[in-house]
Amino acid sequence: MKEEISRLKKEKNAVILAHNYQSGEIQRIADFVGDSLELARKATQIDSDVIVFAGVDFMAETAAILNPDKEVLIPSQIASCEMARFLTPEIIKKYREEYPNAQVVLYVNSTAACKALADITCTSANAVKVVNSLDSDVVLFGPDANLAYYVSQRTDKKIVPMPPNGHCYVHTNLGAENVRRDGVLMVHPECSPDLQKIADVIASTGGMIKYVRNSDAKRFVVATERDMVERLKMEFPDREFVPAWENAICLGMKQITLKGVYESLKNEKYLVKVPDDIASKARRAIERMLEVS
Ligand code: 13P
Ligand code: SF4
Repeated sequence: MKEEISRLKKEKNAVILAHNYQSGEIQRIADFVGDSLELARKATQIDSDVIVFAGVDFMAETAAILNPDKEVLIPSQIASCEMARFLTPEIIKKYREEYPNAQVVLYVNSTAACKALADITCTSANAVKVVNSLDSDVVLFGPDANLAYYVSQRTDKKIVPMPPNGHCYVHTNLGAENVRRDGVLMVHPECSPDLQKIADVIASTGGMIKYVRNSDAKRFVVATERDMVERLKMEFPDREFVPAWENAICLGMKQITLKGVYESLKNEKYLVKVPDDIASKARRAIERMLEVS
C-alpha cells in the first residue's frame, strides 16, 4: 500500500498534508505534518497539482480556498470536526446585530460559510495575536468557548464566546479529574478552563512540539488527541510522552486510513469544492490571519 501510494503520488504530482492527530502510519507517509496554522501556511506554498488532505473537513476546505486552481482531495467524506457544527451563519448574523461595533474572529474549526462572515480567522497557535491585532474593544469569538476563555485571560479586549457553549468533545471530556499528572502537563487551549488552570503549559499541537524542543524535561503528559503522542515520539525519540487520557480520540481524524489515502489518490476522490462566492470571502479572512501571524 505504501509503495502504491508513493508511486501514485509521483504519477499524479500530488502531496499529502497530514494533521498532527493522524495515526502514526499516516504521519509516516505524509510529505508534511503540522498543526492547523502550519498546514494552512503550507497549503499556500505548494506547487504540485493535487493535495491529499489527511485531516478533517475544515482543514481540507481551507487548503481548497487557498488553492482554487488545484485539486484538493480528502480521503473520507465523514472526516468531520464536531466543533464546527456549533456555529452557523445565522448565529453570527444575530450576534453581529446585538454587537454592532464588535469584530468577528473565527477559529479555523468552522465551516467555509461561517468564515465568509468573519473579519479574520485564527488557530489556537495565533488566537491571542489575532485578537490583539484588531481595532475594536469587543470581539465576537467562535465557535470554541474554551479557546475564547484562553484568549480572554491574555487580552484587555472583551471576548464574547459565540455561541456560549461551543466546544470539542475530545478536549472537553479530558476533564481535570481524568488526566494523569506524572510528567510535565501540556494542555491544548480547547480543554476546559479547569484543566487550563492546572497546566504546566498551554499550547497548540505545533506549540507543544516547540515547547518540548526548548525544555530539558524527560517526561510529558499530553492533554489533547491521543495520537499527538505519536507525533511527539517521532520528533523526540529520547523523551517519554503519555496521553493524559487514553480515550481522547477524534473520530473525524481517524476516518483517514492508508487504504483511504490510496483510493483517494487512485480515483481522485473526494474533491473538496467550496462555492466561489463563499471561497472568495473566506479567503480574505484566512489571508488576513496569515498576514498577522
Ligand atoms: P491545532 O491547530 O493545535 O493543531 O489544533 C487543531 C484541532 O483541531 C485541535 O483539536
Ligand atoms: Fe474538531 Fe475536536 Fe477533532 Fe479537533 S479534536 S478536529 S476540534 S473534533
